[in-house]
Amino acid sequence: AGGARTYHKNVLDHYENPRNVGSLDRNSPDVGTGLVGAPACGDVMKLQIRVDENGNIVESKFKTFGCGSAIASSSLATEMIRGMPMEEAARIKNKDIAAELKLPPVKLHCSMLAEDAIKAAVKDVLKKRELHKASQTMEA
Ligand code: FES
Ligand code: FES
Repeated sequence: AGGARTYHKNVLDHYENPRNVGSLDRNSPDVGTGLVGAPACGDVMKLQIRVDENGNIVESKFKTFGCGSAIASSSLATEMIRGMPMEEAARIKNKDIAAELKLPPVKLHCSMLAEDAIKAAVKDVLKKRELHKASQTMEA
């Protein structure tokens, strides 16, 4: 491990030993949850992020009910985004993940799940922050 960009280079290892499998408390105000499905195959991915007050991702977990490539994509994604500002994580493309894992064309949609799940998780945190701000304004 290391800084934000030094995720694991041994891609096979993401198939054999997926990282960051698990769940974060989805009701926590600093946790964003992205739950997405692939219409092509019915596989489902849940990816969660915890952000600090500056919007940097400090922790990420996933649970994927899907093929090996989807699991490897989510494992890699959780490693890639740790330490990143969430806006930057939301710009990660499935191409980046697919290239890293050397996915064949028929497996591209598996990495698309990871891109979509990151975006959905970031959106969830942003929405929670808006609601929080709104409720504070109302209390004031
Ligand atoms: Fe191997 Fe982070 S570079 S676990
Ligand atoms: Fe559908 Fe991989 S997510 S085959």
